[in-house]
Amino acid sequence: MNNTNIPESVFVKAAAEYGTPLWIYDRATIEQRIKEVQVFDHVRFAQKACPNLSVVALARKCGCVVDAVSAGEIVRALKAGFKGGIEKGKTPEIVYTADILDRDALELVKQYNIPVNVGSPDMIQQLADAGVKNELTIRVNPGFGHGHSRKTNTGGDLSKHGVWHEQIKDCIKLAQQNGMWITGLHMHIGSGTDFEHLAQVCDAIIDAARPFGSHLRTISAGGGLPIEYHEENKGTRIDLKKYYELWNNARNRIKETVGHDVALEVEPGRYLVAESGFLVAEIRAVKKQGNNTFYLVDAGFTDLVRPSFYGSYHQISVIARDGRPLTETVDAVVGGPLCESGDVFTQEEGGFVVTRKLPKAQVGDLLVLHDAGAYGAAMSSNYNSRRYAAEVMLSNGELKVVRERQTFEQMMQNDRVIDF
Ligand SMILES: Cc1ncc(COP(=O)(O)O)c(C=O)c1O
Repeated sequence: MNNTNIPESVFVKAAAEYGTPLWIYDRATIEQRIKEVQVFDHVRFAQKACPNLSVVALARKCGCVVDAVSAGEIVRALKAGFKGGIEKGKTPEIVYTADILDRDALELVKQYNIPVNVGSPDMIQQLADAGVKNELTIRVNPGFGHGHSRKTNTGGDLSKHGVWHEQIKDCIKLAQQNGMWITGLHMHIGSGTDFEHLAQVCDAIIDAARPFGSHLRTISAGGGLPIEYHEENKGTRIDLKKYYELWNNARNRIKETVGHDVALEVEPGRYLVAESGFLVAEIRAVKKQGNNTFYLVDAGFTDLVRPSFYGSYHQISVIARDGRPLTETVDAVVGGPLCESGDVFTQEEGGFVVTRKLPKAQVGDLLVLHDAGAYGAAMSSNYNSRRYAAEVMLSNGELKVVRERQTFEQMMQNDRVIDF
C-alpha cells in the first residue's frame, strides 16, 4: 500500500524503465499546492527546495515568481524562462536572497539587473561599490527564530540569517547614502505550524516596517510553510486561511503606517514540492543483525540526506515487484549503500537508529520514500562516487525524464590527472 494517488504499477513501470534509485515528481500535486498558496499577491518559489529546470519552469507556468540564493540559481531561473530586471509597478520575477554576495552572484546580479534581498549590511556597500544602484529589500532577523530542527533555526542571535533588527535604520541610511532605496521587508522565520509564534513574527514585521516610511512597497512572509510527513497525521494540513489572515492583518497595519498599498509575498519551497516527490529504491539485501532486520536499498544519503542530517521522518512503503500480496509485517531498519554508519533512513534526530513496521519484503522489491520532493534531489551529492539519480515527472499520466541519470564520465569530467 503506497498511500498516494499514484498507482503502484506506475512505480514498478518507472523503476523498470529508468532504473533505481529514481526520483518521481507528480506534476498535478505541484500545481495543486501552488494554487492553494495563490491567495497571496505573489508566490515566490524557493527553488532551492527542488531546482530541477522542469519544476522551476512549471512553477513559472503556474504564475509563480522565483527566489535565487546563488549565482547558479539565477542561471537556472533565467534558463527556466524567468526574466531579470525591475519594472515599475511589477514584482520582480527573480530576487536574489542570501546573507552574502559571492563574486559570481555579484556579477550576475549586475549583468541581469536582479534585485537583491540583503541578509547582511555588507551586501549594501558591495552592491554600491559594484555600481549596482537598484532598489533593495531587506531580510530582517527579528531576534528570535523557529525551525523544524536546530539546524534549520531561522532567527535569533545564534542564527546567521538576516540583518539584525537593531541595524535596520543603519541599513536604510547606508542605502540612501549610496543612492538606493529599501522598498521591501522580508522575514523568513518559518512558523507555519505554530500560530502563536507566527503572531509574534507578524508583530515583529509591523515594528520593523516603521523606519521605512513611504518607501516600503512589499513585505514577504518568507518560506517555512510546513507539510505533514507522518502518515498518521496526513489528514491534518496547515490552516492556510489562518496563516494568510495573520499576514494580511500585518500587511494592513503596515499599509496604515506607510500610507499606501503594500504587496504581500510568500516564498515557499517545501510546501509546493515536497509531497509531489518520491524516491524509489530497490531492496538489494535483507539481513539480520542480531535480532534486527535490515533492508538495505540502493539509495543512500547521497540521494536523500534529510534523515541523516536532521533525523527527518519520511513515510516508507514497499511494493512487491512480482505483485504478490504483502500481508506480513516486520520491524526493520532501512539503510543505504554508503560506507557510513549514518546512512540510515530510519533514524531520529541525534542519529538514533530505529526500526519501522514495514511489509515483509524480499530482495528486488521496491522501497519508496515519500514526500521527498523538497530538499531531496536538491541536496544530493557524489559522495562515495555515486552518480546523481535520474528524475522523472508524471505529467498527464505520462512519465517524462526531467533529468537523466548522471554518467560516470560526467561525474569525473572536471577531474584532471596531473603528470606524476
Ligand atoms: C530565505 C528563504 N526563503 C524561503 C525558504 C524556503 O523554505 P521552505 O522550503 O521551508 O518553505 C528558505 C529555506 O531555507 C529560505 O532560507
